[in-house]
Amino acid sequence: MRVGMLTGGGDCPGLNAVIRAVVRKGERRHGDRVIGFIDGWRGVVDDDWVQLDVDACRGLLPKGGTVLGTSRHTPFSLPDGMSRATETIRGLELDALIAIGGEGTLSCASEMADRGFEIVGVPKTIDNDVGMTERTFGFDTAVTVATEAIDRLHTTAESHARVIFVEVMGRNVGHIATWAGIAGGATYTLVPEEPFDLDDLCDALMRRRARGRYASIVVVAEGARPKPGTLEVAEPPVDAYGHKRLGGIATVIAAEVEARTGLETRVTILGHVQRGGSPTPFDRVLATRFGVAAIDAVHDGRFGQMVALRGGAIELVSLREATARPKPVGTELLDVAHTFFA
Ligand code: F6P
Repeated sequence: MRVGMLTGGGDCPGLNAVIRAVVRKGERRHGDRVIGFIDGWRGVVDDDWVQLDVDACRGLLPKGGTVLGTSRHTPFSLPDGMSRATETIRGLELDALIAIGGEGTLSCASEMADRGFEIVGVPKTIDNDVGMTERTFGFDTAVTVATEAIDRLHTTAESHARVIFVEVMGRNVGHIATWAGIAGGATYTLVPEEPFDLDDLCDALMRRRARGRYASIVVVAEGARPKPGTLEVAEPPVDAYGHKRLGGIATVIAAEVEARTGLETRVTILGHVQRGGSPTPFDRVLATRFGVAAIDAVHDGRFGQMVALRGGAIELVSLREATARPKPVGTELLDVAHTFFA
């Protein structure tokens, strides 16, 4: 078969491991010819691609980012995007396309699958917010980076008796914040799933201080928002693709907490450090399993489907259902986090 592959949206540790796995299984077991589109859907629209083979993928497994490049472009973002993408796919005589991405890339894949294109999806994002899969690769790496940072911040917070706010990624949901907060022994964690009231946070920090604990670590997901009417927060700017450019909510919260309680605060925003660098072993293995399953799904004709981790096994789920809404943190895990607040 002739198979095209693309990586779209924000990059993520493990993308190269998927590319390598698709090529290895495709070429060696199925006798496929695999091409990689440059910069996600942009490469499909612009007919910009490279031939991939096993030799071209040597050394890719531990490498962060994506060798194919990525963008937030989709064929639907240009008036003639769909016709150009169709021309490219027909011109290359592709039998199938593997789209590796998060919400935006996979929603586009789902839309195209509904229009008859032969597409299989692979979920990626450090945010872990794609539906119908227990995990996306990249998440474990991001949690590892965030936990290491929190471990380091504990000692400096204690030395200076400060409250340190650590802002992590997570625009719609707080998987990274919740996991890193539990793993790092945070005093409090703010996530988009639970709009916060600063009075509750201030009370918790002061109660802790009354017990003689002067230092605290508060983990804040970038998408955390106050309960309506409790705190003025500016609307974030929007990028060229309509995505809110988040980052900085922890700074607003820390200043307000310092003003209300007199506790000395500092802020660390981890930002793209969480997304860069080499994937953890867990993410390398998950990405490899997803890649192998995706090329097998192509050969089984399972189009309009996405590979997913469910109950520890790799399964296929509907792309449409997987992209219907972001997957929130479960109440059981949120309750575990609450148990250790303050
Ligand atoms: O989608 C993953 C993510 O890491 C979000 O948590 C974050 O808001 C966003 O990407 C930032 O992406 P960029 O700065 O590359 O647009």
